[in-house]
This record gives sequence, C-alpha cells and structure tokens, in this order.
Amino acid sequence: MQFPVAESDHLDQDETYFHLVEDGEQMRLRFHDYAAIYRRPGLYEQLFYDRLKCESPAKVASILRSAVAQAGEVSSRLRVLDLGAGNGIMGEELRRLGVARLLGADIISEAAEACYRDRPSLYDDYVVCDFAEIDAEVREELRSWSFNCLTTVAALGFGDIPPLAFVNAFNLIRPDGWVAFNIKQTFLDHRETTELSRTIRELVFTDYLEIHHLERYRHRLSIEGDPIFYYAIAGKKVADVPLDLIPG
Ligand SMILES: C[S@@+](CC[C@H](N)C(=O)[O-])C[C@H]1O[C@@H](n2cnc3c(N)ncnc32)[C@H](O)[C@@H]1O
Repeated sequence: MQFPVAESDHLDQDETYFHLVEDGEQMRLRFHDYAAIYRRPGLYEQLFYDRLKCESPAKVASILRSAVAQAGEVSSRLRVLDLGAGNGIMGEELRRLGVARLLGADIISEAAEACYRDRPSLYDDYVVCDFAEIDAEVREELRSWSFNCLTTVAALGFGDIPPLAFVNAFNLIRPDGWVAFNIKQTFLDHRETTELSRTIRELVFTDYLEIHHLERYRHRLSIEGDPIFYYAIAGKKVADVPLDLIPG
C-alpha cells in the first residue's frame, strides 16, 4: 500500500485515495471503496488502524462503558445494534464490554463476508440491509431483538449512513436505551448545513437524546499526518425521532 506523492489536503475524506500494488499491478482505491478494501484480508486494518491510527471504536466503546457504569447500569445487559459494522472492529470492542447480544448491520454484503471470514462468530448475527428502506419483514425481525443500544462508528457523514437510515436505527432502540456514535467535529457547528449535521444537532440539542458524555478526540490521522478531530457521543434515548424532523 502506498500513499500518493501529491499533497491531498484539498480532498474530502471520502475522496482520499491510495495505491495498492497487487501481483505487480498498481491500482488506485478511494478510502470509501469499502467493497474492494474488505475483499482483501487485512487491508482495512492496515490502512485505517496501522497507518492512520484510528482510535474511534476504542473511544466510543470506552465512553459507552463509562456512561453506562455512571448511570448505575451494567454493560452485560446491553442488546446492541452496531450499524455500519464493516468487518467487525467495533464489534470486537463491544464483545470486550461483555454485551448480552450483538447484531452487526451494513449496507454491503462484502462487509458481512469480511466479518465472517476475519472475525467469525463475533456477532450473534449480521444483517445486510439499507436502513433507509427497511422492508416490513426485516423490521419485524429487527424488533424481535429488543435492542437497548445503538452504536455507529466512523460511518456517519461523507456519503456513508444517511440521516434517514440513522433515525430508523435509532427508532428501533427501546426508550431509555443507549446510543453511542461519533461525528466529525464540524457537524455540531451551526454553520454546517448538511442534512446529516442538522439531524444530528436536532438529536443532540433537543429532547430525543439525553447526552451523558460528549468528548472531542483524535479520530485518526489524515494521510498528511494531521490529526482529524471528532466528537464521541453517548447518551440515553428519550423518545423516537419523528421522520418529519429530518430536513428535506
Ligand atoms: C469506515 S467504515 C466503519 C466500519 C466500522 N464501524 C469501524 O469502525 O471499523 C463505514 C461502514 O459504513 C457502512 N455504510 C455506509 N453506508 C451505510 C448505510 N446506508 N447503511 C449501513 N451501513 C453503511 C459502509 O459499508 C462501511 O462498512
């Protein structure tokens, strides 16, 4: 794996790319070419964790653990929906917390296949589905898990999970359940007007989520070696989010 020679500061996170030399052939992959990355064992870990020092799964799991403990509850009772689960790195952190049930969910089948290949039996089950359009049968099955925790790590923004998918997942969690996720720091800035940032601000600053922990931290490095800061957020769901709250 090689990073491009030219400086890439001008590129958005989802446009950043790297070169991969495989069997003598060089190819160019974008950071968000998840299917191609997951198909190659170890490449996702090498890129985001070894080279770019991503800390987000460990950080979000640790604030979830401390928020749950400070509320006098136990992580071992959590029934978790891990949305945007990818190949299971957040799942590993959640297993360390000793959660009761763990379902992975992602929009692409390559994520599920990589997870079964690299971390078999990590999740109790893994659903491949678009949470922006959950059909009635899958919704029924998801409801039967009685989730009391939603985690979404490194998957909100930059063309990944859209607001409707996140809100649909949020609404599958029982009231009083836990929600833990991370977002780029600018998403809480009122000058940022994307649908997702407005939806997240509605969640964080109104009555749907009671914030227990909000922390700015270094998500990872850019390929130029600069820190990229995110917020990690953990809170308790108060009520379902009405779908008309999502800015159109
Ligand atoms: C950067 S990866 C994060 C994976 C994992 N949570 C981690 O921290 O290593 C983002 C994941 O979000 C998934 N994703 C993107 N859009 C999605 C959607 N609409 N619904 C579910 N997953 C989605 C991608 O397929 C990808 O696996």
